[in-house]
Amino acid sequence: MAKGSSFSCNACGAVTSKWSGRCEACGAWNSIVEEAPLSSGPAATSLGARRGSAVVLSDLSTDEAPPPRTNSGMGELDRVLGGGLVPASAILVGGDPGIGKSTLLLQAAASFARSGLKCIYVSGEEASAQVRMRARRLGLQDAPVKLASETNLRDILTTLEAEKPDLAIIDSIQTMWADHVDSAPGSVSQVRAAAHELTTFAKRRGTSVILVGHVTKEGQIAGPRVVEHMVDTVLYFEGERGHQFRILRAVKNRFGPADEIGVFEMTGGGLAEVSNPSALFLSERDKPAAGSVVFAGIEGTRPLLVEFQALVAPSPHGQARRTVVGWDGARLAMILAVLESRCAIPFAGLDVYLNVAGGIKISEPAADLAVAAALLSAREDVALPADTVVFGEISLSGALRPVGQTETRLKEAAKLGFSTAIAPLRSKTGSGEELILRQMGDLTGFVGEIFGAG
Ligand code: TYD
Ligand code: MG
Repeated sequence: MAKGSSFSCNACGAVTSKWSGRCEACGAWNSIVEEAPLSSGPAATSLGARRGSAVVLSDLSTDEAPPPRTNSGMGELDRVLGGGLVPASAILVGGDPGIGKSTLLLQAAASFARSGLKCIYVSGEEASAQVRMRARRLGLQDAPVKLASETNLRDILTTLEAEKPDLAIIDSIQTMWADHVDSAPGSVSQVRAAAHELTTFAKRRGTSVILVGHVTKEGQIAGPRVVEHMVDTVLYFEGERGHQFRILRAVKNRFGPADEIGVFEMTGGGLAEVSNPSALFLSERDKPAAGSVVFAGIEGTRPLLVEFQALVAPSPHGQARRTVVGWDGARLAMILAVLESRCAIPFAGLDVYLNVAGGIKISEPAADLAVAAALLSAREDVALPADTVVFGEISLSGALRPVGQTETRLKEAAKLGFSTAIAPLRSKTGSGEELILRQMGDLTGFVGEIFGAG
C-alpha cells in the first residue's frame, strides 16, 4: 500500500483508512477500494499559516431577473427540470443500465438543438456510428446535434472550450477518464474528478452539462451518489424492465420543485411522452377484483391515479412471506401491524404480496389507506366498487390522518370517471366536488363500513 493512500467505498463514497471486506458506513460487501491521495505534502491536509483574501459579501435582495430557461418542447422533460433548462446548470441523470437514459438524452439533445441551443452529445460507451444509427431509428438524424465518441476528459474539455456549446451531454460519467487521477475509469475518484471538472466547466463557461450515471444494485461500479452533491439537479430515470412506462423523477433540483415526475412510454420509436399518466396506469385494469384498489396520489405537483394490487394466501411455510413491489416494505409491515393490533385482523400464517401496477414506485404515506384497503379486500375476498378511489395516511393508533391536496386528487378522480372517494375525516376539500366523499375517522370504522366486519 502506497504511503498516504486511503480507501473509499464504491457504493456510498465513505472514506476509511484501512481496507475491509464490508463498508461500515453502508454495509455493502467488496466495495472498498484503495485510492491514491489527491495530492501530497502538508498543504494538502491543512491550509497552513498563509491567510486568504476577504470574500465579497452581498445582500439577499436582488433586481436580477430569474435565469432565462429554454424549453425543449418535450413537455415531460421541461416539467421535471422545473420549467426548462437553466443555462450553466449541471444535471445528473441516474438510472439502471438499459432503462433508456441514452435514448432519452439523445431525444432531449435533438429537441434542445431544434429549439436553438448548440448541443454536443459525447458518448463514452458507444461509437458515433452507433449513436447515429439510433438517431436514425428515432427519426432525429436531421437535428443539428454534434456527436463525439470519447472518454478522455482533457480532450473533451478542450473541445467544449473551443466549441462553447449551450448544452453538453456526457454519456456516461463512469466511462470518463481524467488523466490526472491515478485510478481506473468508473472508480469513485475518477467519477468524482470528472464530475468536478465538468460541473466547474459548466459554471465557468455558461454551458449546461447533463451527466449520465449508471446505478447498479450491487454498487459494484461507482454509484453516482458522490456526484449528487456537486450538481444542481438530480433526475432518476426509473421503471421496470418488463413494463413500457418510464418515470423521470427529480430528486433534487436547485431550480425547481423536487419530486416532480415526467412520464414516458418506451416504444419502438423511442420514448413517447405520456401527458395523461393516470389514464395509462389504469388502462390495464379490468373488472373489479378482490385486492385491487385505486389510489388517488400526488407526484410532484400533479395528481396520479394508480392501482394497488394485493394477494393474501395461506402460507405453506413456517415463515410467512411479505413481498412488495413499488411500495415501501417497512411501511407495509407497519400497516399489517396496525390492522392486527387495532382492528384485530390477523395476517400471521398468511403470505402477503403487494404490487403497484405499471412499475411505478409510490412513496407517499397518503397511500396507506389504499394499501390497507387492498390487503383487506384480498384477505376477505371482497372487491371494492370499481368506481372508488382511496387515500389517507394511517397512524400507529389506527386513526386516519388527512393528507394534502385533497381537492386535486378528487378532481383527477372525477376526470377519470370515478364517482366515490374514501378519505380521512377533516380532509380539506373545495366546493362543488363531483364525487361522493366518504370520510372516516379511523381504520376500525373503515373496516366496518367497507367490509362489514371489524
Ligand atoms: P438505452 O437508452 O441504451 O439505455 P441506457 O442508456 O439507460 O443504458 O436503451 C435501452 C433499451 O431501450 C434497449 O434495451 C432497447 C430499448 N429501446 C426501445 O425499446 N426503443 C427505442 O427506440 C430505443 C432507442 C431503445
Ligand atoms: Mg446508455
